[in-house]
Order: sequence, then C-alpha cells, then structure tokens
Amino acid sequence: MLLLMFVHGTIFAGLASFVLFLSSRKKRCNTRLPPAAWTTPLIGCLPVVLRQNIGEEMFKIGKQLGPVVSTHLGFQKFVIVNGPEAIKEAFRNSSIAGRADVLYKEFAGSKGIIWPDDVKETRKFIFKSSKHLEFTGNATEFIIQKQITKLLKRLEKTNGKPFLVKNIFNIPLVNGLFNLLLGTVILHDDPDFHYVITSVNILATLPDPIMRACVLCPSLLKWLPLFVSGRDKVEGYFNDVRSLVQKYAENRLVVRVPNQPRCMADALQDKIDETTNESSAFHHDQSPAVPILTDLVIGAIDTTAAMLEWIVLYLSEFPQVQQKVQTEMDKIVGCGRIPSLSDRPKMHYTLAVIQEIFRLAPVVPYGPRKATENTTLMGYTIEKDSYVVGNFYGINIDPDLWENPKEFKPERFLDTNGHFVKSDLLLIFGHGKRSCVGELSARDQIFLFTTRFLLKFNILPEKKLNNFSGRMAATWHCVDFEAKFVPRIQS
Ligand code: HEM
Repeated sequence: MLLLMFVHGTIFAGLASFVLFLSSRKKRCNTRLPPAAWTTPLIGCLPVVLRQNIGEEMFKIGKQLGPVVSTHLGFQKFVIVNGPEAIKEAFRNSSIAGRADVLYKEFAGSKGIIWPDDVKETRKFIFKSSKHLEFTGNATEFIIQKQITKLLKRLEKTNGKPFLVKNIFNIPLVNGLFNLLLGTVILHDDPDFHYVITSVNILATLPDPIMRACVLCPSLLKWLPLFVSGRDKVEGYFNDVRSLVQKYAENRLVVRVPNQPRCMADALQDKIDETTNESSAFHHDQSPAVPILTDLVIGAIDTTAAMLEWIVLYLSEFPQVQQKVQTEMDKIVGCGRIPSLSDRPKMHYTLAVIQEIFRLAPVVPYGPRKATENTTLMGYTIEKDSYVVGNFYGINIDPDLWENPKEFKPERFLDTNGHFVKSDLLLIFGHGKRSCVGELSARDQIFLFTTRFLLKFNILPEKKLNNFSGRMAATWHCVDFEAKFVPRIQS
C-alpha cells in the first residue's frame, strides 16, 4: 500500500513539475523585454550618467532602438522611455507610479510627497487645499506681485549695468512660497535661509558627477569611501532645507487658528488633527507636516527660479522677440497699470514665447519613476523594481515632432489668426499619476515675472553668448550669464 502511494505520488509530482515547467516556459515566451542598450557588465549606463546632457543621449538611443529601451547601472535595471506616446502610456500606468530609490528617498523615509511610492492621499489633499486656499487666485497674485515689485526695485538700482543673473529669483520666489505654505516671509538676515538656497540648488543640479551617480544608484555607496561619494554632504544639504521648514512650521503652530486655515501648514495641521485612521499618511504618528512642506519647497524653488533664468537668457539674446512681447503688452495692458493674470488669455504672443522657452529649456528634463510590480509598456514587459525614466527633454528636440527643433521660434505655437495654441506634445510639468502639483502656481508666477520685467525694462545681454547648452542633472540650469536691465520708455 505504502509502495503504491509512493509510486502514485511520484507520478503525480512528476506530472505537476512537467506542467509547471511548460507553463513557466510559456510565461518566458510571453515575456518580451525591451531592446537593451549600454550593456557593459556592471558599468551599464554609467558613462551616460556622467555626461553633460543625459536627455540628449537618451533621445539618441531611443531613435536607434525604439521608444522603450532597457539598460542597467550596477545591478539596478533601468527602462528609458522616449516619445510622447510611450511616456504618456508609462506615466498613466499606476504600476509605474513609484519613485526610483535614489539616495534622497533614503533621507526622506516614506514621508512627504516626492519620494514615497504611493502618494494618492497626499496629492488629493494638496490639490484640494491649494484650491481652497486660492493658490492660483487673487490673494496669491497679490503676494506674487508684492515680491516682484521688491525685485524690480533691486533691479532698478543696477542702473542698467551688467550683473550676474544667477539666483536673483530665489529670494522673491521663496518668500512668496513661504507666505503660501507657512504664512510667513523669510527674514533676509536669517543665516539658514542662504544655506537653503544653496542646498536646494546643489540637490537639484548635483554638479559633482560621482555624487550624481551615487544619488541615482545608492548601491554604489557600498563600493566607495565616504570622502569620494559625498554622501554625508548630500544628507547635510537635505537636512538644511528640512530644518528651516521645521523652524517656520513650529512658529506657525503657535499662531494658527484651528479650522481657519490661512496657509498650507494650517490646512495640514487641521487634517492631522481630524485623522484617526492609523494607516493614513496624515495620522499624527507619521509627523507628516514638515516632510510634505519640505518637499513642496524643494519641488518649487529650483524649478521656477531656473525657468525664469532661462527666460531672461532667451529674451536677452533675442531682442526682436522681446520687443514684440512689449508691443503686445502695451496694447493690452496699456499705461498706468501692471500686467495681471486676467490679461493672460489675451496675450497670445507672450504665451507663445513662454511656451517656446519651456520647450527649449524644460527645467525638469526627465521623470524618474519605479515599476512597483511587473507590468507592460508598449507591448514590452517591465519588470518589478525597474527604474522607468521618461525623457521629457527628448520630445522637445525631436525633428519628427518639430520643424527645426533647435530654432527659437515662438510662432510655432500660434495659429493662422495669431492665437496661442497649447501643445499636447510638451510634458513640461510631467504627466499622469506623479505630475507636478505646483503647475498652476508656477505658470502664474512665470507669467507675472516675465511680463512685469518687460513692462519696465529692456533686457540686454552683457555679451551675446549664443550658448543654450546649460547644465543638466535632476533639473536643467542655463549657463551663468550677465545681463543689463535698462529702464524702458513705454510707447
Ligand atoms: C517651472 C516650474 C516647474 C516645473 C517645470 C516643474 C516640473 C515638474 C515635473 C516634470 C514633475 C514630475 C516629475 C515626474 O513625472 O516624476 C514635478 C513634480 C513635482 N513638482 Fe513641479 N515643477 C515646477 C514647479 C513646481 C512648484 C512651484 C511646486 C510647488 C509648489 C512643485 C512641486 C512639485 C512636487 C511636490 C512634485 C512631485 C509630485 C509627486 O511626486 O507626486 N513644482 N514637477
């Protein structure tokens, strides 16, 4: 009997293994991995990461191998996605909405809004509160205009002499932002403030290529001594930002009136106070306020400031474009008042200029995501834990999508009636599940800063650079340049 059971058992186990073998073979056959690039063992795409313009390299490989390409860095799998169709498909997929495990994620823990894999609840809250607090309404416009007026006064004092444009926007932008987020303005003599500007800038630009590789692929840290990787320094920069936000958030807690939110910190505290569900991101035990506010500051500062620097660079190099914006403004805004957001729908040429600079200088050139489970993209299998990088920059330089893509030509965004045409191709603020939460506010700021400069000044280059190569890391900055802001006489 025992022998019979053994024989039957063996036959059954054999059959089961055979079926399993067949089904696994079938699964493997169904697996269609993306074509591979930069396949050198271990090193993989490292030489590309160390290069100046990663977006351009990713674009070239996409043209050679197709919209979805696989590569690796160490043992980390990467998937590079090129072209609007493939990026939109990828970034709408909730299995590709995780964040790559870059070094910052380790510092942030599972808190905040930029780094956790699942931020649905936090994003919903931010959008709802931004609307409720009118982050894109009249009250906010008033705050931005006040900051711009202060900056214009500083620019007047340059008396039309050349000065370095780098970082001139950080103070007004941070002040506007702290007003909205923390209900306060930063004290200019606060010593922490200047550290924070520098820290956010370094975190976003990562000028040291070794540091850049370690941030992207923290497993490299195991192989490198601390003084080479710069890990401690990067963590220090991160903590600078968090400490400053924490200081102002604690001050705010003392003066806020519960259930009468006047800034994001108030709204967050109300939400924390009402949350009893322990699994919620807003549960008190999670201490969510400072991480969320810190991420909003990091997301905002370097991007909007970098964009405004690009705008000044392009305008100074193309005086005829500048003049056309001024002519439009004189017609629509006229004398005796400043441009406001209500003028925007009528300022078609100005909008086309801003859009063209967005296209040529996307300050966030790519979106770093992670596949949180096995999934498919354009028919290819994307394996769990792969980093999925959407190359926004590549879209903007593709000659199949734009005529003479390297040319600065705002008219490409105007129809035959001279009306501004928004393009579905550009993904300047990302797409899908992790797109920018500050898009509307950034667009408002950029419009108001640009128009008010040009109302008051002609922007001239110190010397014509004709250099739009910039420096690309997590964000893309223009080269350092000097410009002259010469007061203009309105026609
Ligand atoms: C010109 C200005 C800006 C540009 C070009 C920009 C661009 C982007 C892009 C492309 C992404 C998505 C990255 C991805 O797909 O993975 C993003 C995410 C984000 N942005 Fe912006 N941004 C700008 C301004 C702002 C501002 C003003 C704020 C805050 C008030 C902000 C906060 C954020 C945050 C928190 C995220 C992460 C969202 C998430 O992970 O779910 N950004 N931004």
